[in-house]
Amino acid sequence: MKVCIVGASGKLGRYMVQQALDRGYEVVGVCRERSVPKLEAFKDRITIFPGATNDRELINEAVQGCDGVLTVLVPWGIQQYASGTANAVMDFSPPDARLIFSCGWHISKDGQDVYSKTFNWMLGVAGWLGKLFRAVEIDDQVEACRLIFDSDTKWTVVRGSDLEEGESQGLPVWSHHIGDPILESNKTRRVDFALFMVAALEDDKLIHEAPAIVGCMTPSALAHSS
Ligand SMILES: NC(=O)c1ccc[n+]([C@@H]2O[C@H](COP(=O)([O-])OP(=O)(O)OC[C@H]3O[C@@H](n4cnc5c(N)ncnc54)[C@H](OP(=O)(O)O)[C@@H]3O)[C@@H](O)[C@H]2O)c1
Repeated sequence: MKVCIVGASGKLGRYMVQQALDRGYEVVGVCRERSVPKLEAFKDRITIFPGATNDRELINEAVQGCDGVLTVLVPWGIQQYASGTANAVMDFSPPDARLIFSCGWHISKDGQDVYSKTFNWMLGVAGWLGKLFRAVEIDDQVEACRLIFDSDTKWTVVRGSDLEEGESQGLPVWSHHIGDPILESNKTRRVDFALFMVAALEDDKLIHEAPAIVGCMTPSALAHSS
């Protein structure tokens, strides 16, 4: 299997690179030019395409021949970065490729998610500050996911809970909607977020799903997993 990791140099991206290599996949990575040194440990084992993840020509080259594309969807700047990245990945990936995108719990596929007042308040403040300082455009990550949900590509949008570092605890559990009791602990190890993204490449049950994930060893997962 050949996979492209878009946003390979970030924390999530590097975990995914390692796990894809561990599975014996051929790996292509896209990351900003200035971040190429962050992939130094992998430089002899992966092909790197330096540049912005919303650069359509670059993505077109990087995804050629890929069976899967793992995209770290981030809303940096006021430049439609997330939607530009998602569009490029969907437009140029081979038609049968599995496309796995990361985002957070704030994304809702069907409007049936139930959020706490604190979550909504924090999201509102983050969105307002992000726009004020022209640093983050959360609305564009929402728009990117709307474009993905409307597409007929073989997509999965993985919605991560709050993240923490630490040793892997195993594949996170997931549920359809925020507010489902199994998700209550709202914590996933970042390395396990990556594990779920990479495993989704070979899990056809996740096609056209937006799983909301939580660590498999968290109290809510242990209490509600059957
Ligand atoms: N952090 C959380 O608590 C959290 C919670 C739930 C879900 N998520 C989701 O998890 C994914 C990754 O989250 P993460 O926190 O683990 O981050 P991460 O892996 O460190 O990824 C951040 C990505 O953003 C890129 N980036 C950083 N600054 C940028 C800029 N100014 N312009 C363009 N690209 C820039 C990084 O590239 P460089 O290497 O080039 O800097 C990297 O690819 C995202 O989809 C996010 O929505 C995060």
